[in-house]
Amino acid sequence: MTPPPILRQLADLRAMTAAWHRADESVGVVPTMGALHDGHLSLVTAAKAKCDRVIVTIFVNPKQFNNPEDLANYPRTEEEDAKKLARFGIDALYVPDPDQIYPDGFSTTVSVAGLTDVMDGVHRPGHFDGVATVVTKLFTQSTATDAFFGEKDFQQLQVVKRLARDLDLPITVHGCPTIRDIDGLALSSRNLLLSDRARTHACRLHEEMEKLAEGLQNGDPFEALHAKAVDALDKVGFTKVEYLDLRAADDLTELTAPTREARLFAAAWLAGVRLIDNIAV
Ligand code: PAJ
Repeated sequence: MTPPPILRQLADLRAMTAAWHRADESVGVVPTMGALHDGHLSLVTAAKAKCDRVIVTIFVNPKQFNNPEDLANYPRTEEEDAKKLARFGIDALYVPDPDQIYPDGFSTTVSVAGLTDVMDGVHRPGHFDGVATVVTKLFTQSTATDAFFGEKDFQQLQVVKRLARDLDLPITVHGCPTIRDIDGLALSSRNLLLSDRARTHACRLHEEMEKLAEGLQNGDPFEALHAKAVDALDKVGFTKVEYLDLRAADDLTELTAPTREARLFAAAWLAGVRLIDNIAV
């Protein structure tokens, strides 16, 4: 199949989507920051299955990076990304010029309270305001009827669902399962930044989370399981476990036992790279 048309201006995107809406077609959007891998592509597959038209967006959003070095190092691979998308037959690849998202004098922030008071909201100050603001813009710019997000970033998925509901945005937000490498490591654009050696240890994060979840199923106390997991990660070279939390899946309340639908969430540093993951318990 031919690579998708690349649009960089909102006016061009609007001209395209207006015709689709006149024909009463459903429009799916898959927002990304590029460096596409099979996790992103699984969202494209879900969007294609559900919607008449599909837009993928690539925008490395400066407002959601709380660390300038992280922004500078973020992989940018637009040409390869467009090639990877060719076989999906999507209708548009929207790679907005920065002024299409943040024109001079841009002064509005979308901020979701509560859900962002924990985990990445604490460890990455301002991150979710940046995400919520750009996602709101991408929703209104794309005029999509459906949006597709990964459970890999489960807290983000909950934040996006909440903002769409609170602001009455006419869009359905779909969560899609985490895609993993064969050794269990959740696919992430940041994995490209791991050295070969660090990559061999990176799968231990998911492994220790699975062990912890198994311990909980057996009725072992969370505190002891937590200490054991942190110790094991420390031994294989993780420099810092920012959090390893058991939380309710719907509102992210902290739990000490899976008394309601729960997930285990982790963020940890390995060789200068911050990895996050979460699993159902
Ligand atoms: P990015 O990290 O590029 O991820 C884009 C989408 O792909 C997100 O919905 C994310 O959860 C999903 N994704 C990433 N890795 C995945 C995996 N292994 N399995 C399944 N889905 C996966 O998340 C962002 O970009 C940005 O914050 C964005 C929403 C685009 C706003 O800027």
